[in-house]
This record gives sequence, C-alpha cells and structure tokens, in this order.
Amino acid sequence: MKNVSLTQYLVERERAGKIDSSLRLLIESVARACQAIGAQVNRGALAGVLGSAGSRNVQAEEQKKLDVISNDILLEANEWGGSLAALASEEMELPAQIPPGNPRGEYLLLFDPLDGSSNIDVNVSIGTIFSVLRAPRGSGEPNEAAFLQPGRSQLAAGFAVYGPSTVLVLTLGEGAHGFALDRDTGTFVLTNPAIRVPEDTAEFAINMSNMRRWEPPVKRYIDECLAGKDGPRGKDFNMRWIASMVADVYRVLSRGGIFMYPRDAKNKDGRLRLMYEANPMAMVVEQAGGAATDGRQRILDIAPQKLHQRVPVILGSKNEVERVTSYHGS
Ligand code: F6P
Repeated sequence: MKNVSLTQYLVERERAGKIDSSLRLLIESVARACQAIGAQVNRGALAGVLGSAGSRNVQAEEQKKLDVISNDILLEANEWGGSLAALASEEMELPAQIPPGNPRGEYLLLFDPLDGSSNIDVNVSIGTIFSVLRAPRGSGEPNEAAFLQPGRSQLAAGFAVYGPSTVLVLTLGEGAHGFALDRDTGTFVLTNPAIRVPEDTAEFAINMSNMRRWEPPVKRYIDECLAGKDGPRGKDFNMRWIASMVADVYRVLSRGGIFMYPRDAKNKDGRLRLMYEANPMAMVVEQAGGAATDGRQRILDIAPQKLHQRVPVILGSKNEVERVTSYHGS
C-alpha cells in the first residue's frame, strides 16, 4: 500500500467535510513546528540548546533553553497563518495575540511546547502536546476566558514524541492516528491508523516516590497491582515510568496500560495541566477506545476555571481506569 502522508490525510478529511482548510493549515503548521523542535532536540548539545535558560515560567518552574526555543518555534510557526484568533502556552502567563498586520482566524491553539522537562538534558524522549478549540464568537482579542472550554469542545488534539524516531499522534475526533517522521523526505507518514488501546492491561505507570502522599483509592489500586498473582487481581503487574507524559502515553496507546498522576498531599490539585496536557491526552486516549478521568469525573467534562489549572490524571486501558475511578466512589 502506498504511504499516506499527514498532508494527504488532512486533505482527505477536508474533502470529506470533517475539517475546513483553515484547520487543515493550522495542523500542518503545528506539525512543521514539531518537526523543527524535533530537529533541535536531536542536535542537542551540538546545537548548544541544552541546559537552563536562567528564567522561570508562570508556574515558577525553571525554564530550560529548549522550553523557550520550542515555545518560540510554535509561536512563530502559527501566528501569521490566518487560522488562529490567539494562542496559549504552558510557558506563557497570558494568551498571545495575533501580531498586528496578520489576519485573525477562528481557532484557538493551546500547547505544552516541550513536555517532560526533567528529561531534556538526559537524552530521554520528550515531546509537544497541542489542542485546538474554536474561539467564541465576537470575542475580539480572545482573553483567558475564551480558552476556558471543557475538553469535549476540542476540535483537534495530539502530541509529538521526540524519541528514537519522531512520531505525531493526531485526533480530529474520529479516531486517533499515528504518523512517523521520515527524516529523509521531511514527511509525516501514517504508520498507525486507528490506534486502539486494549481494554485490559497488566502494566501501570505512576511516580512511586509519591506513594506515601497518595489518597486511599490510588494506594489501594497500586497495592493490589503490587500483590500480583497472590493478591485480589490474581495476576502480576509490570511498572514503567518514563517521566515524560508524551512517552508514557505513547506506550499506553501502543500496547495498553494505565498512566496516573493523581492528586497527593504535596500536589493537592494534581501535577499536570488541564488545558495543555490532560485535555488533549484525554481526547486522544478516548478516541483510541481508552478512558481518562481525574478519579471522580471524565477529564473532558471538567469546566476549567483557570488557564494554568492543574488536575489529577488517570488514563489508559478502559477497564483499569474505570476500576481506579470506582475506588474513589467507594
Ligand atoms: O510536565 C509534566 C511532566 O514532565 C510530565 O511529562 C511527566 O509525566 C511528569 O511531569 C513527571 O513528573 P515527576 O518528575 O514527578 O515524575
């Protein structure tokens, strides 16, 4: 079968009336930006892009040079194309407006430019996460309130992983599809169409060092997994924790699993960001047949209060996510 490129896939979806040309162009420019970020990540120390930028972001986290570079690449790639009304980034306190002189479109783009910060300097997979919303009508220059829409309103979402190969997972709300970057031709090629997450799994991903701070439902679930064959689950579980959400979620999409960053006594609202991480990943995972909750409700139904809001995240193989969620109710 002939290789299908991301461009071909998007053109076909446009012809089918699923997306308009403006959304197609937007996704293409996000993909191009991911390609450019991937090239910088790949060059690493050779390009002098590793290490600290000497600044802090809105969440008071240390910014790495690559956080700043990736943010700039995404802004520059997307602010002139005419598809966007505004952009929001995990790295910026307020939404960025479209520079004067450029046409303004009807979409809002949100992104975590470089996810997995602790892995940037140690040559472990990192990535970019993005989400597309429609700007509310008549919102003029969209402010923070324009972005505060529940995840189920996302029109598209996805992420790139800069790993042994660069991959991009995309959903337009009709399945989740995986593309691999052919570095020779600079083309994203559809390699994993219609990804399905197995409903059951025997693999969990969680930062175990937080165990003493977890809430009882999460503690109970992990204790049961650790008890293995002799415990209530009657089977042994394996554990993986890459500490890059993009890479952990890509593994879950590839072979199943459950990924959790729950609320704990230190991270009282959870650690991950609703708008830049949880919502886009929840959409991708649900579109692949998995589930995503905060332990109490579906992530995509949460009404956001703040652009940089954090949220507990439990996502992946449906039956396991439902089990942990049911423990929260009992
Ligand atoms: O931005 C959040 C993030 O880097 C995720 O990609 C990852 O899952 C998590 O933080 C890792 O957190 P910790 O350092 O606590 O393991």
